Amino acid sequence: MTKGDRGHFATKFGVLMATVGSAVGLGNIWRFPYQMGMNGGAAFLIVYILAVFLMGIPAMVAEFIIGRESHKNTVDAFNTLAPCTRWNLLGYLGVITGGIISCYYCVVVGWTLYYLCISASNSLVGYSPEQYNVVFNNFVTNPYIPTLFLVLVIVITGVIVSRGVQNGIERMSKIMMPMLFILLIVLGINSCMMPNAFQGLKFMFVYDASKLTFDGAMGAVGQAFYSLSLGMGCLITYSSYFKDNVDLPKTASQIAIVDLLVAVLSGVMIFPALFSLGMQPDEGAGLVFKVLPSVFSQMALGSVWAIMFYVLLFIAALTSFMSLYEVIISFVVEKFNITRVRACIIMSAIFAVMGTISSLSFGVLSDFTIFGNTIFDTFDYLSTTILLPFGGIFTSLFVGWRLDKKVINTQLNINSPFKFKAIKVYIFFLRFIIPIAILTMFVFSIVN
Ligand code: TRP
Repeated sequence: MTKGDRGHFATKFGVLMATVGSAVGLGNIWRFPYQMGMNGGAAFLIVYILAVFLMGIPAMVAEFIIGRESHKNTVDAFNTLAPCTRWNLLGYLGVITGGIISCYYCVVVGWTLYYLCISASNSLVGYSPEQYNVVFNNFVTNPYIPTLFLVLVIVITGVIVSRGVQNGIERMSKIMMPMLFILLIVLGINSCMMPNAFQGLKFMFVYDASKLTFDGAMGAVGQAFYSLSLGMGCLITYSSYFKDNVDLPKTASQIAIVDLLVAVLSGVMIFPALFSLGMQPDEGAGLVFKVLPSVFSQMALGSVWAIMFYVLLFIAALTSFMSLYEVIISFVVEKFNITRVRACIIMSAIFAVMGTISSLSFGVLSDFTIFGNTIFDTFDYLSTTILLPFGGIFTSLFVGWRLDKKVINTQLNINSPFKFKAIKVYIFFLRFIIPIAILTMFVFSIVN
């Protein structure tokens, strides 16, 4: 690669796999199915689909427009499209938000790798349900093992990202994502073939509007944005590597549909098996690391299913972490004019320190709290509840109000066989509907 050549995704399939890799993550596999089950099943699904199509896809296209028009990292993208204004602060906000998410995301990616390793060494089967709680708690509170695994994850990601957009991110995504889809389907079929599997499907899919609260509906909007990796310039960065043969509205729709399918199939993979063995759905990290090992251990060929599941979870989490990492690397490389390899070494060291601090907040640093939250929870709260909505609102306002309509029009129609005609409607969404919806969600989640 010559100097000044930033690299690009080589193929449309690579574009799709890399962006789907970013979108499909821990958010899809444990968070979505649980939220759906608790909020009236199909009723929640309908709100979620509306949120994805009415807000997620338009917001994603907005990030794509910024990225491909500028071909720059997220800070310089705003500098280029709105020179000498304060809009570049939005780019900095993205880098900071990405940094904060990375600091706790890498911890959980480390957990998935640890569980993959212990299931592969056959030491995850044969305990009682209570013992799995103990296994998990002993692990996360241990000062060394989680740290070792998060450092390993950072090194793996650093090596992939340092190899560049095409040879690193694109190549790995093209191998890993199809593997993820196959594993998901195999595990889903296996789960549905267990006795009484329909109970789990009922928990997920029965339409019960009485269980859908306003809170739940707002949760669906937040989940849609998080799951699609919106609000911090992740997709601005990825789309800065798109060539002109990529049809932006079409690609955004494909990503959103695949992401949605993975989220729903994750539920199909988890709940029938869970209910079949008479277990209760539990929230968040607990479900994947405490309840599922017990489910696998009661299944025939349990360790095989466990290995497959943790490989899937690890791939989903790793490809998302790669995209967070790339936001920061592209900024550091272009801002400080250093090589990718050097940027990856420096950032890996910083992530390792920050990740270790947030990991230790489950153990030795658990008494150190900020407004009553541990460091891990503070990183999570600050980024997902405060900074991401902020980024989402202003990105939408930027494209809606500030960017030249001609630019939007050109970007929407490059290489599209169908001329995108609804540009007025699109801009109306960016100017009003999306910012107001995110603001409502933001106020609601702060008040709660
Ligand atoms: N979308 C990923 C998930 O579902 C997480 C993620 C990656 C993300 N990059 C992001 C979330 C950027 C918000 C912004 O787990």
